[in-house]
Amino acid sequence: MSWTPKNIKDQSGKTFLITGANTGLGFQTALELAKKNALVIVAGRNEEKINQAIESIIQEIPTAKLEAGIVDLSDLKSVKSFAANVIKNHNRLDVLINNAGVMFPPASKTKDGFELQFGVNYMAHFALTSYLFELVNSTKDSRIVTLSSIAHKNGTIDFDNLRLEKPYDKFREYGQSKVADLIFTFELQRRLTTIGSNTISVGAHPGISKTELLRTDKPEMIDEFPHMSANQGAFSSLFAATETIEGGSYIGPNGDGEMTGFPAPAFIAEYAKDKLIGKNLWKYTNSELGLSFL
Ligand SMILES: NC(=O)c1ccc[n+]([C@@H]2O[C@H](COP(=O)([O-])OP(=O)(O)OC[C@H]3O[C@@H](n4cnc5c(N)ncnc54)[C@H](OP(=O)(O)O)[C@@H]3O)[C@@H](O)[C@H]2O)c1
Repeated sequence: MSWTPKNIKDQSGKTFLITGANTGLGFQTALELAKKNALVIVAGRNEEKINQAIESIIQEIPTAKLEAGIVDLSDLKSVKSFAANVIKNHNRLDVLINNAGVMFPPASKTKDGFELQFGVNYMAHFALTSYLFELVNSTKDSRIVTLSSIAHKNGTIDFDNLRLEKPYDKFREYGQSKVADLIFTFELQRRLTTIGSNTISVGAHPGISKTELLRTDKPEMIDEFPHMSANQGAFSSLFAATETIEGGSYIGPNGDGEMTGFPAPAFIAEYAKDKLIGKNLWKYTNSELGLSFL
């Protein structure tokens, strides 16, 4: 039997935070969790879009427990103040879903000078995880879910090109950001194991799903590939967020080339599992962010 959100147990009493939850996979993830009585912090950079998303979930599920969270992941100051607000207003965080992302934007940088895809998809989520860690770690059986992609297979980390030092290559830079997300997932799990934490770190990818991800490039490109609805695309995240799985798992759809299908263990490139690369990326990130996370 294929896994669907119908399999999700009741999530009453649990708090989830999803970045990029106003549309696409993040929205569908919030919707399905709300159906299971979770409290969901619906986070995104645009207050109007976040409020609209909350409205449309409430129209479908009038009893939904939702809270708006405003955070611009292209600005590390915004990440820090958002996290401080979450900590002020919550005494538990069961699941942090590092979902928001950009793909193939025009060449540009975050406020802090990182190539936009690397900065938003990876650096900001490392920072957010770090700021929220005490809250997550003090919540029993908590987890951190980070979104990667099939594109991680083509990604490597070029420490001389994380701030757009080289001529922009949107494919290479997207792959770099998504392999960084997966390296982070595994390195985080290794560090959680070392400190004996009950929190786990897991990864997920949605195959190819019809969302707004290609809005600044060629949205019609998706039709050239087998693909799924945004709702089915969210199944991997939902599985990773709610099923009993081991730390360090990576979940994706089980069809041909992992482009479509139902949640199952996904292919992981050797590069993403490399412990030295994990250690180096972690060290670089802490140093660039002025943090000493784990
Ligand atoms: N769709 C796919 O086939 C696919 C495949 C592999 C991996 N993924 C991954 O899945 C994740 C979700 O993507 P999606 O497909 O659902 O794309 P999407 O429909 O474009 O949604 C992306 C979300 O991220 C938010 N976001 C972008 N930049 C942000 C910023 N600076 N600060 C805060 N939020 C920001 C967007 O907010 P706004 O609406 O305000 O811009 C939106 O809520 C991404 O990490 C992506 O890499 C998707």
